[in-house]
Amino acid sequence: MKAEMAEQVATFPQKYGRVPHLVVILVGEDPASQSYVRGKGKACEVVGIKNTTILKPASITEQELLDIIAGLNADPEVDGILVQLPLPDHINEARIINAIDKSKDVDGFHPLNVAALWMKEPCTVACTPKGIIRMLDEAGVEIKGKRAVVIGRSQIVGLPVAKLLLDRNATVTICHSRTKDLAAVCREAEILVVAIGRPKFVTADMVSDGTVVIDVGVNRDPETGKLCGDVDFDAIEPKASVITPVPGGVGPMTITCLMENTIECFLAKQK
Ligand code: GUN
Repeated sequence: MKAEMAEQVATFPQKYGRVPHLVVILVGEDPASQSYVRGKGKACEVVGIKNTTILKPASITEQELLDIIAGLNADPEVDGILVQLPLPDHINEARIINAIDKSKDVDGFHPLNVAALWMKEPCTVACTPKGIIRMLDEAGVEIKGKRAVVIGRSQIVGLPVAKLLLDRNATVTICHSRTKDLAAVCREAEILVVAIGRPKFVTADMVSDGTVVIDVGVNRDPETGKLCGDVDFDAIEPKASVITPVPGGVGPMTITCLMENTIECFLAKQK
């Protein structure tokens, strides 16, 4: 899919005089965020998208960050703006996300994009939820008519992926760590999406044979220190009909969707 995007982007200089430009802002030195930002930079290189990464110390003020975003909003040659989350505690994340121009919000986190998704209007769809649906389609999983269970209700993953599954005519249950008898709810799932951020939260007894399991978690295994998901992969893999590994499953598809969103924001301006 990246190869197809690269081919498409290669035609842009002649058609539009330039390639799409994604600006990523990274505040502070969180190793996980640094790794995500590196992954985004590499993907831009592969697809041929111009990438600028703005690195700022954790001591940056909210106003300084807002000023940077205002400059990028006004720059006609910037197509996408992504502020890597989480931000330091003294910065109000909602205020920062609100400040990004909706048309450059490649993450799909701006309230106007979130609202448009729920109103079935054209919008930028958040990369991870979009990537999950893409993976289901690529795996040949029929969504229509299925019972889907989503564990997690965040604005970034749980709620939007539930909405996208609903729009594809799945019947969706949204639950969370305090859902009563969560294991019984999960056993009813034909498609199980887990985005809770706890290592091995989903155990084998919670998954029925043949279930499609999408693991959005990125955690450190407290025993081995290695990256692991929210589901006990080794125990569940033999039961699942499809299961996404961590790392290597949802993450790369999220980045692919970020590239796609950047191209879409660029093209929307060329009309
Ligand atoms: N931090 C973890 N995932 C994401 C993401 O998709 N976008 C941003 N901006 N920050 C993140």
